[in-house]
Parts: sequence; C-alpha cells; structure tokens
Amino acid sequence: MKRVRSQGAEEVYVLSAMLSLAGTLGWASFDGRFWSSHFYRTDLFGLVHVFTLGWLSLIIQGVLLRLAPMVLGTRTRSLRWLLVLAGLWIIGASGLASHMFRGEWFGVWTAGLCLWIAALFIPLSHPGLIKLAIKGDAVATYAVLGIGHLILAASLGIFIGLNKHLGLIAVKPYALLGAHFHLAEVGWVTFMMLGFGRKLLPITAPSAETEPRSSRLRLIGLELGLVLTAGSLLLGSRLLPVGASLLAWMLILHVAPLVRDLLRGRIKDRSTFWAAVAALFLVLDSLLGVTMACSLDRWLPWTRDRLLFAYGAIAFLGWNTLTIVSLALKLFPLWVWQERFGADWGVRPVPRVTDLYRPWLREATGIGLTLGTLLTAAGLLQGSGALAQWGVRVVFAGVVCFLVNFVLMARWEMFDITFTPGPSDWERFHALRREKDVSSSS
Ligand code: HEM
Repeated sequence: MKRVRSQGAEEVYVLSAMLSLAGTLGWASFDGRFWSSHFYRTDLFGLVHVFTLGWLSLIIQGVLLRLAPMVLGTRTRSLRWLLVLAGLWIIGASGLASHMFRGEWFGVWTAGLCLWIAALFIPLSHPGLIKLAIKGDAVATYAVLGIGHLILAASLGIFIGLNKHLGLIAVKPYALLGAHFHLAEVGWVTFMMLGFGRKLLPITAPSAETEPRSSRLRLIGLELGLVLTAGSLLLGSRLLPVGASLLAWMLILHVAPLVRDLLRGRIKDRSTFWAAVAALFLVLDSLLGVTMACSLDRWLPWTRDRLLFAYGAIAFLGWNTLTIVSLALKLFPLWVWQERFGADWGVRPVPRVTDLYRPWLREATGIGLTLGTLLTAAGLLQGSGALAQWGVRVVFAGVVCFLVNFVLMARWEMFDITFTPGPSDWERFHALRREKDVSSSS
C-alpha cells in the first residue's frame, strides 16, 4: 500500500486528539467542581475547549487528512505545511484554554486569532476540495461548509473574548454563547461527521434513485436550519422555534435510516451498532433543543440552565464522542492492516483485521459511553454533581477501553512489531494460496 504524504502529520493530529480526550475526561472524572455548580464558569470553559479544540477538532482534521485523498481524490500539502498548521492549532488551543481557565480575556481572543488563521488554512491543505464542492460533490460540500462554520464560530468566539476584555457592547446573557455553540457544535463538528458518515456508514446517504435531489434538499435544509437557529439566538429573533424545528428535523432525517435499522435489530456490524446508538443521542438532543426553543420546557421539572448543561453533555459525549470512537474502531484497524500487512497478503501469513483489537473492549467502550452519558445527563438535570461526576467516570472508563484498543492497533505501526503467525494464520494462508493457484491455473 502506497504511503500517503500526509503521514506523520496525521499521527500528530490523532495522538494529540487522543491525549486531549484522555486528559479532559480523566480530569473531569476526578475534579467534582466542574459538575457541582453552574456551567457558565471560566474553568469549565477552559476544560470544554481542551475537549472541543483538542479532541473533536484535531481528530476531525486528522481523519480529513486521510479520508480526503482516499474518498475524494484530493491532494494534500507537504508534510512541513501540515505540521506547521498542526502546531499553530495546538498552540492556539492551548493558549485559549489556559487563558480561559484563568478568565484572562486578552489571552483568549489573541489565542483565538491563532486558531482562526489555522482554520482559514484548512481548505488550503486539501487543494481541490473547494472545487469539488462547487462541482456538487456531497462529502466535499459538507466539509467546506463545516470549515466555513468553524471560521464563523471562531470569529464569534474572538469577538466574545474581545468584548469581555474591552467591554464594547452589552449583550443578553447566552445570546452570543448560544450562536457560538451551535455554529461550532452543529456547524463544524456535526457537519463533518455527517459528511464523512456518507462514506463510512453508507446507509445514511440517500439511495441512488433519490440522489442527488433529496441529498441537496437535506443539506440546504440543514444549512438553513443552522443559520436560522444561530441567527435567532444571536439577535433574539422570534424565528427561533422555526429555525430549531427545521434544524432538528434535518438532523433527524440524516440519521433516520441508521436509527430505523437499530430499532428493527437489523444492524450486524458492531461499530455501526454503536454509531446508531450515538445517533439516538442526536435525536434526543434535537428534540430537547426544539423543546427549549418553543419554551415547552416550562412543563418539565428541570430549570432551563440544568437542561442546557445536560444538552451540551449529551451532544459532546453521547453524540460526538460515541460516534467518533465507534467509527474509529471501524477505520483504524483497516488502515493499520493495509499499511502494515497489505503488501504481505498472500505472500506470508498475516493476522485478520479483527485480530488487531479486542472486540470485547469495543463493547465495553460502547456500554461505558452510553451508560455514562445517560448518568451524566441525569445528574445534571437533577442538580446532583456527584451523580454527574460518576457518569463522567463511567464515560472515562469506556474511553480508557477505547484507548487500549487504539494502542493495540497503533503498536503494529509505531513500534514495528513482528507478527508471529499461529496455526490458524497458517491455515488461512495455505487456503488463500490454494485459491490463488486454482484461479491462476483456470
Ligand atoms: C476556534 C476558536 C474558538 C474561540 C475563540 C472560542 C471562544 C469561546 C468563548 C470566548 C466562550 C465563552 C462564551 C461566553 O462567555 O459567553 C466560548 C464558549 C464555548 N465554546 Fe468556544 N471558542 C472556539 C471554538 C469552539 C469550538 C470548536 C467549540 C465546539 C465544537 C466550542 C464550544 C464552546 C462551548 C460549548 C462553550 C460554552 C462552554 C460552557 O458553557 O461551559 N468553541 N468559546
């Protein structure tokens, strides 16, 4: 298998993402202060940004580096370019998060500028991506829109920091935060996940007969729903229920085939099964969002602030993280196998892709993330910091299982371990050779 040029940079992105995931959840599991009071706190802002800029944004950029050439046929820039960009992102994210912890707003917006520049350069790292989007390629369009939303979210974040530093204008509580959150969470992270999902979970892509019309309509609806929601939150517009309902409907439409197959017990592949469970969290959060936008939460027993806290936790843990780790357990073993053993296939015995990780650890990851997210959300809704913290601990345990599987896979490439075939590997090898001999003689 030909090694792609971006290798080395991908590793920096993926390893930094894994470290951020382990670091934030490990810290949040053991430090109760994050869960025992209101979400609007500078130390929680800092932690959230290590998670969103360190884990979610870096893993997305790392996977984009690998997937774009494979599924879109785009080129990538030189290794040096990619490493400089990764460095700029990591420095910006560290600066932003550390200044947020201390509530130093000058540091927040200047570090934000560093991230803004890095975000601006993401499309330039993939020459041809924008052209493909203009030509109508669906995955490229999701990616380009996703990056565009990230730049908007970062611009708003920089303005929030600047405004807190200089006190430029008086703003309604949460107005800027709500718009920033939706542009970043839905516009950046979710758009990228749904775009990649079309290739990694083909069931979520519209069928050949209805493509490309339904696909285009869904994307236009999603974009319109996002713009209306973020815009209404920002301006305090009465259109919020319309925007939120459209956004929720489009999000649910995107994952509906996956959820339907899950509920009918039709999913055989375990990674897809856990991605479908994650999609249920997206459905739950979409309904919660509409409930709040339409002020129907006055009938619920929880205050708005508790609902908002749980809403954010479900999005980041149940939807984003469970989907990403589930898909990673589908992709990473394949990539490692192709690079490490692809050339040896049929030449000498090689392990199966599924031998590179432990399936029971994948199950533990899915269970930990699902149960942990539910417990965290329940604790936040009930105002029980202890329960929420236990929930995060369970999520963390699931993440540790994922990381162990990740190390089991990555060690083949990183440490160049020699594979010692067992009897079943020899058996498979001889069977393959016999098959090859028969087909070449016929
Ligand atoms: C890229 C540059 C970014 C900058 C400059 C930035 C800046 C900020 C600022 C200044 C706040 C505080 C808002 C307030 O006080 O009202 C904030 C909050 C927040 N941001 Fe960002 N942000 C960035 C990226 C992101 C991304 C990519 C995500 C998610 C994927 C994100 C998610 C959040 C969330 C969830 C909060 C609220 C945290 C809480 O309530 O605990 N941000 N951001």
